[in-house]
Amino acid sequence: MQEKTERNVKFALAGESQARRKYKAFQEKAQEEDLTQVAKLFKAAEMGETIHSGYFLNKLDGVKGTKENLQAAVEGESYEAGNAYPAMIDDADEEGEADVKQYVGYVKTVEGEHANLFKEAMEDLGKNEETEYYVCGNCGHVHLNEAPEVCPVCGAPKSGFELVSL
Ligand SMILES: [Fe+2]
Ligand SMILES: [Fe+2]
Repeated sequence: MQEKTERNVKFALAGESQARRKYKAFQEKAQEEDLTQVAKLFKAAEMGETIHSGYFLNKLDGVKGTKENLQAAVEGESYEAGNAYPAMIDDADEEGEADVKQYVGYVKTVEGEHANLFKEAMEDLGKNEETEYYVCGNCGHVHLNEAPEVCPVCGAPKSGFELVSL
């Protein structure tokens, strides 16, 4: 890809990805407020942004075979857990942003878990061993095979966990 176009495509991927997440939250809020039609419109826009971000991701050659994708995921998660979030925790600490500091601490832990899970999946690729994943609705912690009584990362109760299904 030519230089300017590549820069624009990266920018578009970031923007569309953010818009997608935002519209999902807007849709949920509209539903809470019983504004069903607006909720549907946000969902339609979210679907569109998902399609757009998929195009930009593909243009950047962001999706390869699963083994390479797992490797990319390990690298991304390890960077977040080891570099990006620790620095953010320090900044939040320095500025007295206690909530952010605490939550980013959870995020950092969960990204480390993701890195390990992806690494294991890479090593076991093709084995297809059956494991159930339960995700904490507060912090994103992944618990294997059953939901814990209390989230070991953030302390949320068992009822806040969701079983992953495809
Ligand atoms: Fe992650
Ligand atoms: Fe949690």
